[in-house]
Amino acid sequence: MQVYEIKKGIYWVGAVDWLVRDFHGYSTYEGTTYNAFLMLGEKNVLFDTVKANLGSDLVHRIRTIIDPEKIDYIVVNHVEMDHSGYLPEMVELCKPEKIICSKMGHKNLLDHFHRPDWPYHVVGTGDAVSVGSRTIQFIETRMLHWPDSMFSYIPEEKLLISSDAFGQHLGTSERFDDEVDQSELMYQARKYYANILTLYSPQVRKLLKSVAEMGIEIDMIAPDHGVIWRKDPGKILQAYENWSHHRGSNKGLVIYDTMWHSTEKMAKAVADGLESQGVSVKLMNLRVEHRSDVMTEVLDAKGLALGCPTLNNGMLPRMAGFLQYMKGLRPTNKFGAAFGSYGWSGEAVKLLNKVMEEMKFELVHEGLRVKYVPDHDTLKECVEMGKILGKAIRDSFEE
Ligand code: FEO
Repeated sequence: MQVYEIKKGIYWVGAVDWLVRDFHGYSTYEGTTYNAFLMLGEKNVLFDTVKANLGSDLVHRIRTIIDPEKIDYIVVNHVEMDHSGYLPEMVELCKPEKIICSKMGHKNLLDHFHRPDWPYHVVGTGDAVSVGSRTIQFIETRMLHWPDSMFSYIPEEKLLISSDAFGQHLGTSERFDDEVDQSELMYQARKYYANILTLYSPQVRKLLKSVAEMGIEIDMIAPDHGVIWRKDPGKILQAYENWSHHRGSNKGLVIYDTMWHSTEKMAKAVADGLESQGVSVKLMNLRVEHRSDVMTEVLDAKGLALGCPTLNNGMLPRMAGFLQYMKGLRPTNKFGAAFGSYGWSGEAVKLLNKVMEEMKFELVHEGLRVKYVPDHDTLKECVEMGKILGKAIRDSFEE
C-alpha cells in the first residue's frame, strides 16, 4: 500500500475513509482520513493509530516500511476511537516498550481499553522524549477537543503533529495542502472548526498565544484528519486565530423551516432587507441544508434571522434540533432576529428569541409573527426587519 515520506524517515501510514458520511452528527460528504505517522530512528515511533475497521490499512502500510514488531513507542495524542480504535491490536502486534500519552490520556485509555498492564509513559507540556538524533516534545492541548488531547513536536524537523487541531474531514488521494483545491480545503477546515472547535475558542486563543510565546518554529503541521500543511502552515494558524475570536464578517444568514411556505415567504423578504444594506446573505432552509453546513456559515456570520412556524405550541423539530446543536457549540458575538407564521397559539417566535437571548445574541427586533399567510404589507415588515439586522451588521464593521 502507498505510504508517503513527509519528512526524511517520517512516513504517513494512516487510512483514508472514503465511505464515512456522518461523523457523530457532522456530515462528511468528502469522507475523511485518519492520519498516523511512523518515525524511524534509534527508536521507531508510531504516532496514533486509526479507526478499528481500517486497522489493516495501517498495518499493511507499516509493513511496507518495517516489521510492526520493530515499533518501540506508540504515542497516543488523542484517545477518541477514530485514532485509538485499532490501538489494542497494534499493541498486541508491536509489544511496544512505551505507550506515551498525557495524564488524561492515561486515564482515558484505561477507561476505554481496561488494560492497566500496558507500558504507559505519561508526559506533560514541556516534557520530551529522545529517540536518538531526534526529540519528541509534548504540548498538552486540553479540551482541544478532549481532555486528553496533546501535540507532539519534533524540533529537528520543525514538525508539529497536531492531533485533531487544524484537521479537515477530507478523504483524498492527496496528502498535502498544495495538492488540493484551496477553496475546498479552507471550506473543510472552516467546517471542522465550526462543528468541533467553536465552543473551545477560548482554549484555541490561549494555545495559539502560548505556541507563539514558546517560539517554536513550524514548517509543517500534520493533523490527524485531512491533508498535511506543508506549503503554508501559517495559513491555517491565521485562520484559527480569526475564527477563534468569533468576529464574524459582513454576512447575514436567514435560517428557517417552513410548513406551508408562509415562513419561507417571510424568510425571502427578510433576506431582501439584509441584501439592501450591502450585506452578503445566505438563505438556508433546514429541510435541505445539513445542520453542520449551516453551522459552518454561522461561524463567520455576524447576524442570524431565524424563522419557524408554530407547531404544537413549539417549533418545528428541525429548528429545535438545529438550535440545540448550535447552542452546544456556543457561537458568540452575533445579532439576531426571529420571525414565523402561526395559526392560533404562535409560540415559535418567542421561543426563538429566548434561545438567542440565552446565547447572548443581541436581538435587534422584538420578532415578527404572521397569522397563517403573509400579505404584501406583512412582507414589507419582514423587509424592514432584514434592513434593521443588515444595518446592525454593516455598522458593526464601520465603527
Ligand atoms: Fe478525530 Fe477527536 O477525534
